[in-house]
Amino acid sequence: MSSTQEQGITALNQEFSRYDQVKKEQTYHLAEHEQDQFDDEYEIKTCDLSQFFHGGETGKEKFAAELGAALEGIGFAILIGHGVDPERYLEAKRKTCELFEQTSREQRMKYRAQRFGSVNQGYFPIKETSNIHPDLVEGWVFCRHAFDFGENPNYEEKDFWPLPGFEPFFRQICLQHETLILPIMQSILRYLGCDPHLYDRKLTRTNFGFRLNYYPPLTAEDAGSGAGRMLGHEDVDLFTFLPAEEVGGLQVLNRENMKWIRLNPPFGTIILNTGDYMQRITNDRLPSTTHRVSKPVHQKLYNQPRVTFPMAIYVWEEEIIEVLPGLGAPKYEPIAAIKFHTNITSKYYGDDYAKEVK
Ligand SMILES: [Fe+2]
Repeated sequence: MSSTQEQGITALNQEFSRYDQVKKEQTYHLAEHEQDQFDDEYEIKTCDLSQFFHGGETGKEKFAAELGAALEGIGFAILIGHGVDPERYLEAKRKTCELFEQTSREQRMKYRAQRFGSVNQGYFPIKETSNIHPDLVEGWVFCRHAFDFGENPNYEEKDFWPLPGFEPFFRQICLQHETLILPIMQSILRYLGCDPHLYDRKLTRTNFGFRLNYYPPLTAEDAGSGAGRMLGHEDVDLFTFLPAEEVGGLQVLNRENMKWIRLNPPFGTIILNTGDYMQRITNDRLPSTTHRVSKPVHQKLYNQPRVTFPMAIYVWEEEIIEVLPGLGAPKYEPIAAIKFHTNITSKYYGDDYAKEVK
């Protein structure tokens, strides 16, 4: 563990604020801290996507109003009616366990994460998700290029996946989540009074970061170390789809009262949250909300792995991130997506990460 990581156990987010590309005034501990307070009252809203898909123009309006209000309020919403079979999520959980449990560390290390465009893609060993905190998670990030969408004639599964048969399975999940990208973005734009189709082109076959997170059972040593399972952070993206996981631990910061909300919606739902790209283009209307993963409340769950597979939606590196029309005087200058993205993620991967931008 590096000394920065050791300090990360007690660190505050503001120690790293120089990397941020949107305004973030909240101050919080990266890992759960004994002084933290919890908000058991705030209810993160559930929004039914079937209104968008099957409710005609009225349904689209209603969904946009509900989703927009939820996101503007806290930056998180729970999606139902999304059309993805929960059985597929169960299978994804089994396969993720298999990927991390049935391969050797040596096999996994061959796929060690490296920069691919703006995304750091590949395998992240435990405690090495970032340079600034020893996260108790093993992760594996796959961006669009890691899947065989028929877009690259030279594509080879083994370049990205250590075991055969995993890519076609997870590709199907990405394809299903991809069908939700435009409905979500169109609804957000509609809520903000913009042309709902303004991002259709940018978000068709766009880049993403599909991450498999395997939080192994907690040892007594890790549980007592003070480290979190995933440090407090805001997502860099436009928005993230996170299928709900039964083993709890996700906490969302309510900036109104600076208390943490424990978010543990039913299996089969998808948690949606907005990220830095969204806060930037909406001129701070939709926040990039702080969240983290802590130990489960009930110690009996310590011996179970926790498995999640969030999909972060980005625009391609060459796109320009600029404030949407009609949202008041822009607080931010237009900026190339790659610069925006890597300036932020230098926080986790080191200052050299952004300097490579041409
Ligand atoms: Fe996140």
